[in-house]
Amino acid sequence: MATPVTAVMIGAGQRGYEAYGPYALAHPDELRFVAAAESHPVRRERFAAAHAIPSEYQFDTWETLLARPQLADAALVCTLDRMHTGPALAALEAGYDVLLEKPMATTLEDCVRLVQTAERTGRLLQICHVLRYAPFFSTLHDILDSGRLGEIITVEHRENVSYWHMAHSYVRGNWRNSRLESPMILAKCCHDLDILFWNLGATRRLSSFGSLQHFRPERAPEGAPERCLDGCPAADVCPWYAPRLYMDLTPLLRVARRSPDWAQRAGAALLAEHPRLAAAARGWFPPLDVALDYRGWPLSVISEDPSSEARLEALRSGPYGRCVYHCDNDVVDHQIVNLELQSGGSAALVMHGHSHREGRTMRYDGTRATLRGCAYTYEQRIEIHDHLTGKVDVITPGAGRRNASGHGGGDAGIMQAFVRAVRDRGQALTSARESLESHLMAFAAEQARCAGQVIDMHAYRRQAEGK
Ligand SMILES: NC(=O)c1ccc[n+]([C@@H]2O[C@H](COP(=O)([O-])OP(=O)(O)OC[C@H]3O[C@@H](n4cnc5c(N)ncnc54)[C@H](O)[C@@H]3O)[C@@H](O)[C@H]2O)c1
Repeated sequence: MATPVTAVMIGAGQRGYEAYGPYALAHPDELRFVAAAESHPVRRERFAAAHAIPSEYQFDTWETLLARPQLADAALVCTLDRMHTGPALAALEAGYDVLLEKPMATTLEDCVRLVQTAERTGRLLQICHVLRYAPFFSTLHDILDSGRLGEIITVEHRENVSYWHMAHSYVRGNWRNSRLESPMILAKCCHDLDILFWNLGATRRLSSFGSLQHFRPERAPEGAPERCLDGCPAADVCPWYAPRLYMDLTPLLRVARRSPDWAQRAGAALLAEHPRLAAAARGWFPPLDVALDYRGWPLSVISEDPSSEARLEALRSGPYGRCVYHCDNDVVDHQIVNLELQSGGSAALVMHGHSHREGRTMRYDGTRATLRGCAYTYEQRIEIHDHLTGKVDVITPGAGRRNASGHGGGDAGIMQAFVRAVRDRGQALTSARESLESHLMAFAAEQARCAGQVIDMHAYRRQAEGK
């Protein structure tokens, strides 16, 4: 690429700095960040240092950045959910092409406004439905598109959120309370609803059930204090005891033990089973450094300083050290959404936060074949069972990838597609209008769950657009 696309980063937090920033560093010929707006000074300086952004192009709010004449071709909006609409609308009006984190917005009205503004201004508005850009889901889509399964009759798609991710993001963390950010079906499953829409087409009717069953004060073990470190009597038996995740890294090491990289597997096993030996051995076994010095998500969320002291302090005083039964959370820990498809088929989405392992699993039953798939970190597999021949084909998309982070390759994939769409003035894989559909489904599912209704999606769509 001759001249790189230029971009401004709005919100250089976990996603801005860790998921999308690295694409520009790895592909300087494709993308360059020339300015950043970030209200947290440490994060602002960290992003500016990584991308060599001069001080006059560092801003403490998106408003001050967007008040300046247009500074770049594109804007990435990576602020928290409730702060999507303001900067995205202002950036589109100012002439930027926009990559906007999901969910587009926290109200249906704002989602519609964003789509209409992109269409009126003629700017690109791409929503970070990163799964479409991951090898697993593009392979799944191509299989369905090929007609190999015949007519799709029924689908079960599960979003199995691990027990520790649930506690981190949806009990203690940013997405714990639907009044503060988004309902969980929007925050977590607009991806899944987007994949179902992409693969199966429009929904005719929808219903939903679910609740917050477990993470409630009345479920707390006897004598559990407000914070894990305040002498909790259940520390040894509670899976959500905060130091187990943030200090010992126990669930993260279990994930690393499935890595295709033998050194990472060995390092994680040694660290999990013999932590003292691992600390002593790190000098002569460098892969241990990767495990011992791990500072990525979710550790990076609890403290900018990854040292043990800083993490302990974060658990003593910050939100991530709270007892999971004593948080101000209200989002569900399980929800199902039933879809009656326009095609005549049916689909069920099951989302829950009590899985031993993080990942999506699915089953598509068609008139010619059954497909079963799983998309876990470090294990991605699709089986196709042909009705006529009885043959079973096994496909392992992205097999052997050493780095399974970044939504199975979706984070880098969406960046590449966005940069190319901006450069070539081309159409992205997904238009904002297409992304709107999964958001409509999520808002409808929440209404169906809370009011006990069956939603007619045609009427719901027309009402949302004021028709
Ligand atoms: N695509 C995905 O799969 C995916 C995954 C996780 C999160 N997300 C979404 O990404 C978004 C960001 O999440 P995150 O975890 O990075 O959050 P974060 O809190 O780490 O980052 C948001 C940043 O915005 C900054 N900010 C706040 N006010 C600002 C202002 N006025 N001007 C400029 N910056 C401001 C904050 O200081 C913070 O650093 C959320 O909407 C989330 O739902 C998407």
